[in-house]
Amino acid sequence: MDKKLKVANIGMKFGMSHVEGARDFGAEIALLCDNNEENLRFAGERYGIPEDRWITDYNDIITNESIDVATVAIPDQQHVKVSCDLLRAGKHVLCEKPLALTREDIEEMVRVSDECEAKFMVGQICRFTPAFEKAKELVSSGTIGDVYFIESEYAHDYMKLCDEWRADPARHGVIGGGCHAVDLIRWIVGDPQEVFAYGTHMLLPMVSYDDATIAVMKFGENVMGKVFVSTGCKRGYTMRTVIYGTKGTIICDNTSPTMTLFLTDEEGVVLPEQTIDVVVNNHNAAKEFEVFADAIINDKPVMTDAREGAKTVAVCLAIVESAKTGKPVKPDYNF
Ligand SMILES: NC(=O)c1ccc[n+]([C@@H]2O[C@H](COP(=O)([O-])OP(=O)(O)OC[C@H]3O[C@@H](n4cnc5c(N)ncnc54)[C@H](O)[C@@H]3O)[C@@H](O)[C@H]2O)c1
Repeated sequence: MDKKLKVANIGMKFGMSHVEGARDFGAEIALLCDNNEENLRFAGERYGIPEDRWITDYNDIITNESIDVATVAIPDQQHVKVSCDLLRAGKHVLCEKPLALTREDIEEMVRVSDECEAKFMVGQICRFTPAFEKAKELVSSGTIGDVYFIESEYAHDYMKLCDEWRADPARHGVIGGGCHAVDLIRWIVGDPQEVFAYGTHMLLPMVSYDDATIAVMKFGENVMGKVFVSTGCKRGYTMRTVIYGTKGTIICDNTSPTMTLFLTDEEGVVLPEQTIDVVVNNHNAAKEFEVFADAIINDKPVMTDAREGAKTVAVCLAIVESAKTGKPVKPDYNF
């Protein structure tokens, strides 16, 4: 594909990061869509997009043959319906995380994505956070030996963020926000076979679900994991992540300018810690769009396709079920 990609962006709040990602890549921002006219105007003026390219109904993207790609950043409950409608119309779709909130919806998303030729990517943005990219590289190169334990967390205070759709019990904090930590762990060490979780509800009076959850996980032979999700925590946003290997340990997060690496000498004794500088870019929308555009232009597999996004949600659903039932749960990856 030699021509410039023509992009329509849906959802003008967090979705403005998709406008910037596509713009920075060099794509043409052809349409901006939001069913709230005030939000639409704000974004349109901010990015200098003429008013005749502002739309309030995403169906106008479906009927516009010139659009190649649509980005979807609207409440989680609508991801599957809107993405499937766009895919069926032949548009490539970059949709925000989480892929979906229910088992039924993840199955639908995988099925429709399999049936359609257009590409689908779920925006698991932590895979483009510089510190996490570095951690993944250190693990893949064997620098810290074999990983035997990985922990990550999603600690984010929703006290002011918790609007109506985030308070929906289907949008449990483990699925809506915790999917970041779960996806990061899956990306680095693979799919957990079993999870066991506890939850508490002490901080967010406006929700009916647990606002803190801890889950332990069993991976393959000799690998364990842990995820902590707190959507009411009294601290700044972080996804502190520690990866323990047989030859070293990585400590990193998404909001610090440095990460820490411990390595060992030939006798296995720990050497002084190393500090690695990293760029802080917690929402690397430019890289995310670039990776998706590369898959479209060069017809490559998509990094986080529907199945990959579905697996992350399957783990989150298993965590929620385990905390409710008090029993270990095996995530169902059969879709
Ligand atoms: N990757 C991340 O770190 C990250 C961060 C924040 C939000 N998100 C995700 O982005 C999505 C949007 O979150 P947000 O914080 O922007 O939500 P928001 O509620 O603040 O904004 C959603 C916007 O979408 C518009 N909208 C809703 N339904 C629409 C429809 N059918 N058609 C057109 N416009 C519609 C609303 O008017 C609003 O402007 C969610 O899926 C959320 O989980 C991801």
